[in-house]
Formats: sequence, C-alpha cells, structure tokens
Amino acid sequence: MRTAQTLQRVVAQTRPELGRAPQLHECRQGKGDRIPIPEIAGILEIRPHTSTVLGVLCAWNSFQRKGNFMSFDGKVAIVTGGASGIGEATAKLLAARGARVLVADVSDAAGARVVSDIESSGGSARYLHVDVSSRDDARKMVHHAIETWGDLHLAANVAGIGQTPSRLHDMAESTWDLIMNIDLKGMWHCMAAEIDYFLSRDGGAIVNVASGAGMRATVGQPAYGIAKAGVIQMTRQGALEYAKDGIRVNSVAPGLIDTPAVKALPDDVRALYAAGQPGGRMGEPLEIAQTIAWLLSDEASFVSGLNHLTDGGWFQMSPA
Ligand code: NAI
Repeated sequence: MRTAQTLQRVVAQTRPELGRAPQLHECRQGKGDRIPIPEIAGILEIRPHTSTVLGVLCAWNSFQRKGNFMSFDGKVAIVTGGASGIGEATAKLLAARGARVLVADVSDAAGARVVSDIESSGGSARYLHVDVSSRDDARKMVHHAIETWGDLHLAANVAGIGQTPSRLHDMAESTWDLIMNIDLKGMWHCMAAEIDYFLSRDGGAIVNVASGAGMRATVGQPAYGIAKAGVIQMTRQGALEYAKDGIRVNSVAPGLIDTPAVKALPDDVRALYAAGQPGGRMGEPLEIAQTIAWLLSDEASFVSGLNHLTDGGWFQMSPA
C-alpha cells in the first residue's frame, strides 16, 4: 500500500491536470476509464519492474472488487454433461456470471430444462444433443457454439459415467469399452475439437472433470479410475503442449458429490456415505462448479496443468 500511496502522491504533484491521483482500485489494465497502468508508468518514467509491481497491486485490487471477480461477461462457454449434476451447476454458474453457454448432453429433456432455467433467470444458453464418445459430435458441438455466438472462449468437459462395480480381472469387456469411450476417449474428442478452434484464435481455457478415483485405487471401479487417471494425464499433456498458444488446461478431481444419482439412493445409504467423509457431509454440485469456474476465469490466468482436488479433505484420509 505504501507503493500505491507514494505513486498517488507523485502523480498528483507531476500531473495536476489529471485532477487527482487515481486510487489504486481505479487502475485498469488496458481499456480503463481512468488512467491505464502503462500511462501511469510513462508519466512517472518508472522502470518495467516497477510497473510490474503496480500491475500485481492492481490485479490484487481487481480481485477485491467483487463485482468483476470471476466475471464471464462476453464469453462463450461449452459445458458437456450440462444437463445434470456438476455439469448443470457449472452451466448455471457460468451463465449467471455472464457467459453464453452451450449445454451439450445426451439427455435432451433435462438439457432443455437447464436452458429454460438459465433463460428464465435472464441468462443466455442453448442445448445441443452431443454424445462425447463420437468425434463427429464433439466437432459439431464446437461449430455450433461458434455459429451461434461467433466465438468460443471456455470449455468445461464434465460429461462422464460411473461403472458397474466389478473387480479388475473379471470385468466385462463391454464395461471397459463403455467407460473408456465416454470417460476417456470422449474427453479427448472434446479437448481435441476445442483446442483445434482455440489454436485459430488467441487461446482459450479448458477444464476437464476427473475424479479422486483417478488419483488412488478405489474398490470396484477399475475402469472408471483408470479412465479418470488418463483424464488427469491428458490435462497435463494439453497444458504443456499448448501453453505457447495461450490455451490453459486444468482438471478438477471431485470427491463424493451429492448429484442426482447419489440423491436417488436410500436415505440410510446416503447417510452412510456422508458419515464416511471427513467433514461428515458430501459435496454439493455447486462446490465443484465454483472450482471449475475459477479455473476457467481470468483470475486463474497463470494456472495450467493443475489437477485441483475439491473433496472436503477426503483424499487426506487413510484408505479404510
Ligand atoms: P450426472 O449423471 O448427474 O451428470 C452427468 C451428465 O453427463 C448427464 O447429464 C449425462 O446425460 C451426461 N452424459 C453421460 N454420457 C454422456 C455422453 N456420452 N455424452 C454426453 N453427455 C453424457 O453425474 P455427475 O455426478 O454430475 O458427474 C459429472 C462428472 O463428475 C462425471 O465426469 C463424473 O465422473 C465426475 N465425478 C462425479 C463425482 C460424484 O460424486 N458425483 C465424483 C467424482 C467425479
């Protein structure tokens, strides 16, 4: 703060025609209606490292200006699996914060309901039937967003399914194929189509939904866990390969989240699940959506290749 106060004093003394020195919270990088940082740097003839310090201070201040924090105004986003659970919460959160959202799913009626919910809250959204296990569908999804809104900036790849419980050695091949096609290959289809477009513009941000089950072995879910581990690795690969192209790729690994499939379980089973969590409760879909939104936002502009656990501390427990 001392730097800011000194700066304000110097501006007031050297450029009285500015009326008054800008408050730190009024600094904008780029299109500000006050004095942009480069101009302040020019006035003061301060060296680049000083202006970097100032930039950091202003970024911190923008963080504190809650009105614009995690704003998606003017952004276009795709949310796969947006018709239910974590995807639905993500689509609604992004739309509530200004994004135009393409809800991509195989569940048409539920997808239409999510769009209608968003629109009746004043947001903007469309639904498209997309089976992520089809490479063609993934490409059409990206084209549809661009055709509808003229651009695409963000993608949350949330669609995924759980597996019929089994052990590794006697799992049906059809189970392996189904899980791999949707949870792993489907993620690749979406990432590839999104990156292909992001390369033609000035970048973009992607968040893939993995799982805590992709970070340690869990009983009864071999294919699911292997697919989700693959999603985490694919995220790292994307982050490294496309950093120079302005594309950020991160993943979120949720713990146990109280989505519709879990809500449909008998109360005593749900209570047992909750009791097994370190905080005595499951997570809510919105709590994952918030992590996804942060990773997609400009506030995470230097975050890429991260697999962000959002699990209420579950991963820190010793396996039973
Ligand atoms: P959900 O079943 O409520 O939502 C998944 C959505 O994906 C549904 O709308 C479904 O229609 C859609 N979907 C399924 N197959 C699809 C396909 N081939 N193409 C397009 N859309 C498809 O599930 P939930 O719980 O919200 O899960 C979302 C993601 O979070 C999944 O990737 C899941 O593996 C992951 N996850 C969930 C956890 C939980 O406790 N609920 C824990 C860890 C990860």
